[in-house]
Amino acid sequence: MATEAQDGTLTVTDNRTGTTYEFPITDGTIRATELRNIKVSDDDFGLMTYDPAFMNTVSCRSAITYLDGDNGVLRYRGYPIEQLAAKSTFLEVAWLLIHGELPTTAELASFTEDIVGRMPVDPSIAASIGAFHQDAHPMGVVEAGFGQLSTLYPEAKDVDSDPERMDALYNTIAKIPTIGALAFRHNQGLDGVAPDPVLGYSTNILKMFFGSDYEPDPRLVRALEILLILHADHEQNCSTSTVRVVGSSRVDPYSAVGAGVAALYGPLHGGANEAVLVMLREIGSKDNVPAFVEKVKNREALLMGFGHRVYKNYDPRATIIKKACDDVFEVTGVNPLLEIAVELERTALNDEFFVRRKLYPNVDFYSGLIYEALGIPSDMFTVMFAVGRAPGWVAQWLEMINDNEQKISRPRQVYVGADERDYVEIESR
Ligand code: CMC
Repeated sequence: MATEAQDGTLTVTDNRTGTTYEFPITDGTIRATELRNIKVSDDDFGLMTYDPAFMNTVSCRSAITYLDGDNGVLRYRGYPIEQLAAKSTFLEVAWLLIHGELPTTAELASFTEDIVGRMPVDPSIAASIGAFHQDAHPMGVVEAGFGQLSTLYPEAKDVDSDPERMDALYNTIAKIPTIGALAFRHNQGLDGVAPDPVLGYSTNILKMFFGSDYEPDPRLVRALEILLILHADHEQNCSTSTVRVVGSSRVDPYSAVGAGVAALYGPLHGGANEAVLVMLREIGSKDNVPAFVEKVKNREALLMGFGHRVYKNYDPRATIIKKACDDVFEVTGVNPLLEIAVELERTALNDEFFVRRKLYPNVDFYSGLIYEALGIPSDMFTVMFAVGRAPGWVAQWLEMINDNEQKISRPRQVYVGADERDYVEIESR
C-alpha cells in the first residue's frame, strides 16, 4: 500500500552530460515518462526503462486488490481474503470487486438472480462446441467461446455505454461456467445440461458438469465457492494484465476476457493447477519425493504449484485451500495424492534451495486435489480457475476503461536487428 513516507523526490545526474534532474516520487514510484526529459541532445528521444517481464513496472493505479507478497497478505477492496473465504459467497465477492462495496441483502439477492438467469448460452455456442474434436482441451474451447460471445453481443462494442458494459461484465461471470461445462460434457460425449434458475451459481456449475440428477453435498458446494472466492482477483497478474492491455484497444470486454483466458491457459499461470496433478501422479509415491526434489534442484523439473512473482512468503490462499481440503476429504475420502503433496511441501520448505529463493506453495498447489475430489478431471482445473477469475478480470477491465490516464497499451523496444540493407532478389540468395 502506498504511504506518504514513500513520497519525495529523486535527484539523478546524467553522467553523459553532467545534467542533474529532479523527479517527484509518488506512491513509491516515479513516472517513467519523466525520464524522457533526460536527453543527450534535442533530437534524442530521451531515456527509457528496460523491464522485460515487467519485473519492476507499475502499469496502473488500482483500488481493487491489495497484495503484500512479503507478508502473505491479500485483500479485496480492503477485506482480508480469510474473512471473505469464511463468510461470503462467490457472487457477493464478484459484486464487491466490481462495485467496490459489499452488497446489501437486496442487492445480493437481485444480483444472484440476475447472474443465474444469465447462465444459459445461445444454442449456437453449444453447436460450435459440438464441432470441436471430442478430446479438445476445454480451455481452448472456452477461449473460442469468448470470441463467439463477442459476435453474439455486438452492442458490447460500445465500451462507453454503462448499461452495455454491465451487461457484458455480468454475462461474462454468468456464461463462463456454462461454456466450461459444455466443453466438459463434450469431452465425455454427453449433451449439455441447462442451468436451473432456482439454484445457486455453484450448485448449477456442479449440476451442469455432472447432470441434473446429481445432488451435491452442501459441503462440496461450499468448498467450490471458497475456491472461486480465492481465485477471484489477484491484481496485475499475467491474465489480468492481458485483459487490461487488450481492453485498452477498446475492443469489447468479451474479446478482452478471451485474451485473458488464453494467458491463464499457460502452465506458468493458471495451467499450473493441472500441472501439479500431473507432477504428483508422476512422483507416484511419498518415497519418490526426495528424488523428485533433487531433479528440481538440478533444474530438470519445476516444482509446480510453488513460487510466485509477488509472494515471497506462504500464499495466504494456499493456507485456506489446505484447510478446505480437510473439509472436502471428510465427504469424499482422502485423495491419495494428498500424502505426496504434503511430503513434497515439507521437504521443499526444509530445503536450502527453496528457502533461499523464498519458494512457498501457491494457490495452485492444493486446489487441484479439491477439484479432483469433486470429480472434476485435471484438464478442467484451469477452466475452474477462469470461472473464479472472471469477476476480477471484468472489475479490472472496468477500472481500466474508466481511468482517465488510460491510453492504448503500447510498450517500446530496444531494436537490436539488422541495420538498413538492400533487398536481395530471390535468385541471388
Ligand atoms: N521450482 C523450482 N525453482 C523455481 C520455481 C519452481 N516452481 N519457481 C522459481 N524457481 C527458482 C527459479 O529457477 C529462480 O532460480 P535462480 O534465481 O537460481 O535462477 C528463482 O527461483 C526465482 O524464480 P523466477 O523464475 O525468477 O521467478 P518468477 O517470478 O519469474 O516466476 C513463477 C514466478 C510462478 C512463474 C515461478 O515460480 C514458477 O514457474 N512456478 C511454477 C509454476 C506455478 O506454480 N505457477 C503458478 C503461479 S501462482 C498462480 C498463478 O499465477 O496462476
